[in-house]
Amino acid sequence: MDKREAISMSVIRRLPRYYRFLCDLLDSGIIRISSKELANRMGLTASQIRQDLNCFGGFGQQGYGYSVKNLKEQISSILGLDSKYKAILIGAGNLGKAVASHMCFNDRGFELIGIFDNNPSLIGTNINNLPVIDIKKLATFCSKYKPVMSILCVPKHVVDKLSGELYSLGIKNYWNFSHYDLSMKYDDVIVENVHLSDSLMTLCYRIKENS
Ligand code: NAI
Repeated sequence: MDKREAISMSVIRRLPRYYRFLCDLLDSGIIRISSKELANRMGLTASQIRQDLNCFGGFGQQGYGYSVKNLKEQISSILGLDSKYKAILIGAGNLGKAVASHMCFNDRGFELIGIFDNNPSLIGTNINNLPVIDIKKLATFCSKYKPVMSILCVPKHVVDKLSGELYSLGIKNYWNFSHYDLSMKYDDVIVENVHLSDSLMTLCYRIKENS
């Protein structure tokens, strides 16, 4: 079995956070850091950090700690952030506009190549230098440009039908903001669900417990 296959998703899910902290450290001119100091900054334990990074080969040196630049590059490479996976976004409403405008796709392994909506008043408008395209042109666009990932910023009730179309066009990877459970319908899709409200409800619980 490939060593990477055995790495748990909980370790993988911590990597973007390591990456973010390492970018901040580099920006503030810090070139090396011990696992203890990194742990303090991140609210983890040094042993957790060593365990996580050892899954990929370590990267630290006894008595030196980690080179911030090297560790950032290694994590970037593990995550595949220099990939240019072609992505499209469906639903150019409030959320879709915000995601398309503020997310640095290029630094996160993706290239946003198309934005789609079915609202005539949005079609043809520009978001972040991309025109909003009529959803009716989705099939033609996909056969020409072959996107591999779709961001879903549409209401839940349209996703059942829409995802069928996207799936038949070969798109099997989703960044899903709709509250529709895609993995229940397809067993060979990769889905990252984002629910801001889950985070808000967790915050509510923590405030309640602290009151
Ligand atoms: P919105 O109404 O501003 O935008 C939805 C857009 O989808 C509209 O422009 C609409 O024309 C378009 N649309 C609807 N059906 C379509 C179709 N079949 N094909 C193409 N485009 C279509 O709504 P908003 O605020 O942007 O929210 C979008 C969805 O995201 C909502 O369902 C909401 O529940 C969800 N949401 C999820 C969050 C999360 O954390 N996961 C946070 C906020 C909203």
